[in-house]
Amino acid sequence: MDVFVIEGGRRLDGSIAVQGAKNAALPLMATALLTDEPITIRDAPDLADIRNMARLLEELGCETKRQGHRLSLRTADRTQSHARYDVVRTMRASICVLGPLLARRGEARVSMPGGCTIGDRPVDLHLRGLEALGAQIDLDAGDIVARAPVGGLRGARIFLGGPFGSTVLGTANIMSAATLARGTTTIESAACEPEIVDLARLLNAMGAKISGAGSPRIVVQGVDSLGGADHRVMPDRIEAGTLMCAAAITNGDLTLENCPLDALLVLWDLLHRIGVRIDPIDETDPLRATCRITTERSLRPVQVTTQPHPGFPTDLQAQLMALLCLAEGNSIVTEKIFSERFMHVPELARMGASLHRAGATVVVSGVRRLRGAPVMASDLRASAGLVLAGLAAEGTTIVNRVYHLDRGYERLDERLIQLGAKIERVDEKDLESPPTIAVMPGVARLASA
Ligand code: EPZ
Repeated sequence: MDVFVIEGGRRLDGSIAVQGAKNAALPLMATALLTDEPITIRDAPDLADIRNMARLLEELGCETKRQGHRLSLRTADRTQSHARYDVVRTMRASICVLGPLLARRGEARVSMPGGCTIGDRPVDLHLRGLEALGAQIDLDAGDIVARAPVGGLRGARIFLGGPFGSTVLGTANIMSAATLARGTTTIESAACEPEIVDLARLLNAMGAKISGAGSPRIVVQGVDSLGGADHRVMPDRIEAGTLMCAAAITNGDLTLENCPLDALLVLWDLLHRIGVRIDPIDETDPLRATCRITTERSLRPVQVTTQPHPGFPTDLQAQLMALLCLAEGNSIVTEKIFSERFMHVPELARMGASLHRAGATVVVSGVRRLRGAPVMASDLRASAGLVLAGLAAEGTTIVNRVYHLDRGYERLDERLIQLGAKIERVDEKDLESPPTIAVMPGVARLASA
């Protein structure tokens, strides 16, 4: 297993382009199940999750081909509709094949995703939505077995609000399935995430009739069939936000290209309050902007609560928390989407952060500096938070199990190195001895303020 060995204390400086969004690309890929014509997805990041989704689609009868960041997908065989446990357990997003399979083939068998390190992740809203479209749903040997009624799915009014807001992949599933249902489907309390807008854009290019994506009410007029399309994935707002926090935590000066600024207004506002400047350079397309990130000498604390879009995203909570560890005062971070998503907290504490957790809230008392330590990555975004902390810490940080990070960030180490970071990717077996904590200048903001 690879680890990152990070020598902290180097300011990030330079330009970097944001990659295509993993969380947009996954449901986009599943649209290939809705048609026999080719779907081309450009800017698809080269990540383990994307490769797993391609493998799953191949098992479901799709031909897939990758050329660089271009993915070509085409359904060649519609006989196999079983998304097996072996694949689903490696990637929860496999659930987004359920709606498309059911709509086009009339039946689907998808292994029920289990919980994961960020908490229980039920799929009841997905199932309720499909039932409202007329599907019969059973559970058999750990698989969700869904069957469309004779004559196919039929449009309905569906409420997708749950105890923690709407559901992103649930909205993707129901919206995709409804494209081929008879009549009109209205999804109330739909997820408003930009990835849903991106999916609606591709589906409409395939011939679907969807309006309202990006708002809590989506209306889908069913059509008889869908055709092929060519689509460029939106840039990854979470990667962009992570890079903004990386610039801020290292006191750096970064220019972000292909940045979905318009999808990051909440982070922009928060960072402004913290003392981080984001200056747009080119906003001709606000979803593909160029902007510059610089910081003031000291960081101010904030209160932040994760919420569905357009609120502060749970997928940036760990990265922002790493930054707040170095703010001057007490910040309060509350996690409202996945209340157990705090695996990074004890690891940041190992680096000298002062954190007090009570339930779904963490009080972050800013410290003058973080110190390098061996830490354990436990999920994708927690890993990103630890890498950011390592970039700012004095001395050497070893981030173990970076395969989590590799699921969501393409070659992050190489790209940060180009910006001035000192990171080495090594096989943990080749680590000669436990890291020595060399005393390096670090990014001691308060000391120098
Ligand atoms: C998507 O997961 C993302 N994954 C997650 O990104 C992200 O954290 C999450 O949305 C929230 O923004 C992908 O897009 C592949 P949800 P999803 O259904 O759709 C509850 C990352 O780091 N809920 O919107 O699975 C649920 O427990 C990842 O890239 C139900 O109660 O999340 C949670 O509290 C991890 N019943 C809330 O809703 C359901 O049927 C939102 O979950 C479904 C969800």
